[in-house]
Amino acid sequence: MNNMDGKIAFISGGARGLGAETARMMAACGARVIIGDLLDDAGHATAEGIINKGGGALYTHLDVTAEESWQAAVKAGVDKFGGLDVLVNNAGIFFMKSTEDMTLADWRRMCAVNLDGVFLGTKTALPHLKARAAKAPVGGSIINLSSIAGIIGIANFTAYHMSKGGVRIYTKACAIEFAPYRIRVNSIHPGLIETDMAKQVVTELSGAMGSDNAVRDMFVQSHPIGRIGEPKDIANGITFLASDDSAFMTGSELVVDGGWTAQ
Ligand SMILES: NC(=O)c1ccc[n+]([C@@H]2O[C@H](COP(=O)([O-])OP(=O)(O)OC[C@H]3O[C@@H](n4cnc5c(N)ncnc54)[C@H](O)[C@@H]3O)[C@@H](O)[C@H]2O)c1
Repeated sequence: MNNMDGKIAFISGGARGLGAETARMMAACGARVIIGDLLDDAGHATAEGIINKGGGALYTHLDVTAEESWQAAVKAGVDKFGGLDVLVNNAGIFFMKSTEDMTLADWRRMCAVNLDGVFLGTKTALPHLKARAAKAPVGGSIINLSSIAGIIGIANFTAYHMSKGGVRIYTKACAIEFAPYRIRVNSIHPGLIETDMAKQVVTELSGAMGSDNAVRDMFVQSHPIGRIGEPKDIANGITFLASDDSAFMTGSELVVDGGWTAQ
């Protein structure tokens, strides 16, 4: 297990899915975690689950598309725990649409959550990350959730690919910009992982492929390792990038995809 003792981490979209699993894992590794999300009931439940196991956690409402919401959420976390060492820009949305069917409003909605959300989180957390990084042995860490969709293309997922490709290269540019502040910035690139978002991907494809089972079989075959991923596969990677064990990594892409993009 990576050591997160003494670290304070903010996780956007942490009410469920990969963000919630990451919050639980980081807390188990010694971090205090702040969970921001739109889903207040699920977010409170995730934080309470961590607290009930003896961990430090706070849930705060967050809409990643709104700058004032980020400011209030980060302030709530900093007021509670005293600063920030780690930011996980995890909140994201997915939809499937061909370019011919997609409206400009659809495109902008994808940008608002998956790109504006990452920029606003980074901008809002940065002063707090800088302040703690200056005194920490290794410094601070930002982890951005990209995807294999940030590396390869799939038909009719174009807006999602655009957003995850943007996250991938924004990560590298931030890594250069923030290196003097001792803040590392890396992206993580999951294959298909069993979450609500994965269920949505399967449902949206099943119309074209006949059934959910046909889609699931196709996805199992797409991962040479022979299965769809589990949230802990990704939480392990994010926690590694957040910990001092990845001290010499910045601007890199951690691909956790069961071999999908190796083909
Ligand atoms: N599950 C996968 O297969 C997969 C693969 C590659 C990348 N990803 C990425 O990982 C991240 C997490 O995905 P997941 O599978 O856990 O999805 P999920 O849908 O289960 O969880 C996403 C979370 O983000 C929150 N969210 C959405 N819009 C928000 C907003 N405007 N403000 C605040 N929170 C918001 C949701 O409420 C939800 O709690 C996403 O960025 C996703 O694109 C997922």
